[in-house]
Amino acid sequence: MKKIIIIGGGAMGSAFTIPCLENNNKVTITEPYSKRFIKDLSSKDKFHSALKVKLSKKLKFRKFSKELLKEKFDLIVIALSLSGIDFIGKELKNLKNKTPILVLTKGLKYEKKDKKISTISEQLKNKYKSINVSVLKGPCLAKELARKNQTSVVIANKNIKIAKSIGKTISTKYYLTEYSRDVIGVEVCSAIKNIYAMIIGAGQSLNSSSNLFQKSILEMKYLIKYFKGKDETISGLAGVGDLYVSAAGGRNSKMGSYLGKGFTFKAAKKKFMPNDTVEGEQLAREIAPFIFKKIDKKKIPLMINFLKTIIGNKKLKIKV
Ligand SMILES: NC(=O)c1ccc[n+]([C@@H]2O[C@H](COP(=O)([O-])OP(=O)(O)OC[C@H]3O[C@@H](n4cnc5c(N)ncnc54)[C@H](O)[C@@H]3O)[C@@H](O)[C@H]2O)c1
Repeated sequence: MKKIIIIGGGAMGSAFTIPCLENNNKVTITEPYSKRFIKDLSSKDKFHSALKVKLSKKLKFRKFSKELLKEKFDLIVIALSLSGIDFIGKELKNLKNKTPILVLTKGLKYEKKDKKISTISEQLKNKYKSINVSVLKGPCLAKELARKNQTSVVIANKNIKIAKSIGKTISTKYYLTEYSRDVIGVEVCSAIKNIYAMIIGAGQSLNSSSNLFQKSILEMKYLIKYFKGKDETISGLAGVGDLYVSAAGGRNSKMGSYLGKGFTFKAAKKKFMPNDTVEGEQLAREIAPFIFKKIDKKKIPLMINFLKTIIGNKKLKIKV
């Protein structure tokens, strides 16, 4: 039995508590930001309003505080959105903690000062001095995990022993873990698939979306090589696995379908998805300055065209 703390009580952090508890760990969840999730998790019946399930009575909710992070845990799980990474990085930096950290958050950051793109694990290691960071990615809709639908994910760490030991702690019959040493490839794939899911969603028929799917894979291959990830990661869970689930049923592809119908991003957001976070759009804004400047435009025409559409709030014209 391990002591696990999950930071982030949104859909993913809360769904993740389910296999962790089932594997007989002592699980604490904390929420630093959202009043809605604090209310859900501290309520008597622990009904989670995003997942629409009651969480286990064994799950302990604690108010977020610096003191809580100082307590002894065997695993720290970060399940915040990308916008929470700087916040939690700063909190953890001061602790000089050697506890293994597992990052569920997907995304990339453009470091304006160094003019480079960083993955989340790079930020935690380089900027916030977290030492022992692994990442967990792959095709996982939080609502499906919460209903114990069979789910496979990949844990990446250059030291595969650490990844496997985390896998042993969190996996169950329905939550299966694979392993990879290609941390950068896994992180870049799991972030950029949100943009490609929007592009595929913009196809207005299965035939056109399939064509966009195939062209997206070619661009992802180019980008992974550019960022020095491994080509084989594209065909793994963090690559085509996650792209499939996002293109078939996520918020990104839903927004993509409105863009494909001729709405601008702002108009579609206001009309159809006013309360939804569209991660692909946030990532597009984050990485656009770097992509426009540094990457050969001819190699990734779908991405370039899409970024211009989002940044300029234009109508999307798919060119393949
Ligand atoms: N690794 C996986 O298997 C997997 C699967 C699904 C989602 N995810 C990722 O997990 C992350 C969270 O997704 P979710 O579905 O739980 O989203 P959500 O919107 O349900 O929850 C977001 C969480 O981030 C916190 N947050 C938001 N803005 C913040 C800020 N500025 N400062 C601090 N905290 C902030 C919220 O309070 C909440 O805890 C995303 O990056 C998503 O891509 C990972």
